[in-house]
Amino acid sequence: MRKINKIACIGAGYVGGPTMAVIAQRNPNIDVTVVDLNAIRIAAWNDADLTKLPIYEPGLDQIVAEARGRNLFFSTDVESAIDQADMIFISVNTPTKTYGKGKGQAADLKFIELCARQIARVATTDKIVVEKSTLPVRTAEALKSILHNTGNNVKFDILSNPEFLAEGTAVSDLQNPDRVLIGGESQEAIQALVNIYATWVPSERIITTNLWSSELSKLVANAFLAQRVSSINAISELCEVTGADVNEVAHAIGMDSRIGSKFLKASVGFGGSCFQKDILNLVYIAKSYGLQEVADYWEQVIIMNDHQKIRFADNIIKTLYNTVNGKNIAFLGWSFKKDTNDTRESAAIYVADHLLDEQATITVYDPKVTAEQIYADLDYLGTRTSEENRKLVKVVNDPYIACQDAHAIAVLTEWDAFKTYNWKLIYENMYKPAFVFDGRNLLDKKQLNEIGFQFYSIGQ
Ligand code: NAD
Ligand code: UGA
Repeated sequence: MRKINKIACIGAGYVGGPTMAVIAQRNPNIDVTVVDLNAIRIAAWNDADLTKLPIYEPGLDQIVAEARGRNLFFSTDVESAIDQADMIFISVNTPTKTYGKGKGQAADLKFIELCARQIARVATTDKIVVEKSTLPVRTAEALKSILHNTGNNVKFDILSNPEFLAEGTAVSDLQNPDRVLIGGESQEAIQALVNIYATWVPSERIITTNLWSSELSKLVANAFLAQRVSSINAISELCEVTGADVNEVAHAIGMDSRIGSKFLKASVGFGGSCFQKDILNLVYIAKSYGLQEVADYWEQVIIMNDHQKIRFADNIIKTLYNTVNGKNIAFLGWSFKKDTNDTRESAAIYVADHLLDEQATITVYDPKVTAEQIYADLDYLGTRTSEENRKLVKVVNDPYIACQDAHAIAVLTEWDAFKTYNWKLIYENMYKPAFVFDGRNLLDKKQLNEIGFQFYSIGQ
């Protein structure tokens, strides 16, 4: 049996950090070193003040406190971590390509390839290399080609072990996963990774497959999840014109055990770093095999999602008498979902951009997102100069100040705390009529109507 004493993980991000923290916590006899080129991120992982960890995930601070310095280490020394490890996880980012062939759809694998080349160059002992990042099906073929042609007599086994955690619930997802998926060719290598998970995951939840099924399953899982959100969002629009209530429809269909009740929450649109990128990647792969109908089918999930974001912004404009020019819109929430500080592809960014095009002014409050991040998100779109973004958008750290003198409030993230605000006080300090556009169906419509708000939600 192949014994793993040292693990390296390249990439200390939303996946590498929490995943390795839990592996280290559950395997105190294995040394786990998480490495990253980003020295600021590594310093934050090493900060004595656990509130300064670079990502916010409920429960993560306790796990880091338990394992860090014992058998969990964060470092910028990528080469020595590679050299010493028996098993190397690659958990780097795989964004959508922004240039060249496949621009806007294909996954950019340059970071993956750089890791493979670095491992090939540095390794002096046999390694198991684990794809943790989400990758196009057949990426392992390219890794094999790089790692099996080094001429240095080092043996590399490649495994695919995609991660299914969701942000905001990363720790509980990792502690109690629905399944762990391991794809590979060498039974010995597969078993070595199975043994690591088996210290806390019941064996019937550890699935092993061939490499390609594992790589593809990850893209398909995200596509199916996102498809459910776009499906219920499509129905939300139909509800609004027919008098049906999307919450009631979701409840009624979700009780059918064949459909299931999860992931049927209508919203302003899904965000996050992965759903869009992974579906676009699936679309690109289907197209590259000449499967146009397959590509069109999945692309519709994205088209529907873009429509939902714009529809939400358009509804604000239309309701505010067809102009938001010079009007103050308060944004409650900027992250792509609650309990995370991640804003990647958050619907809030696109709703804001659309309203700014109409010359609205926006004041944002989010309990976990910094002003710097919000401006970076808007600047990245390149729609207007960064000076203009700073002029039109204010970021405050008090929700009551955000809503003061607002013409309308838009709820973009479903932070629980928003429900407990003093809505009467908020109402009193707004322009009248005071509008609330609830993009998350979070607030109590009856209560807000009674206070005097003009209340709009999704699919009702
Ligand atoms: P991230 O951007 O938060 O982290 C990636 C890290 O890799 C960055 O800190 C970057 O500096 C580092 N990096 C890139 N190239 C490097 C190199 N050559 N050497 C050292 N460090 C390098 O990304 P993430 O959200 O953790 O996602 C990582 C992968 O996991 C992606 O493929 C993503 O699709 C997948 N995934 C993400 C989630 C999620 O919830 N975020 C869930 C499941 C799977
Ligand atoms: C998602 C998947 O749930 C994870 O299994 C996967 O590992 C991860 O992508 C990934 O590969 O990155 P994540 O994006 O972190 O996780 O969060 P989700 O809970 O899936 O939410 C995604 C988006 O959909 C959020 O904007 C959320 O608000 C929205 N959503 C989700 C809805 O609008 N309605 C729902 O019913 C569910």
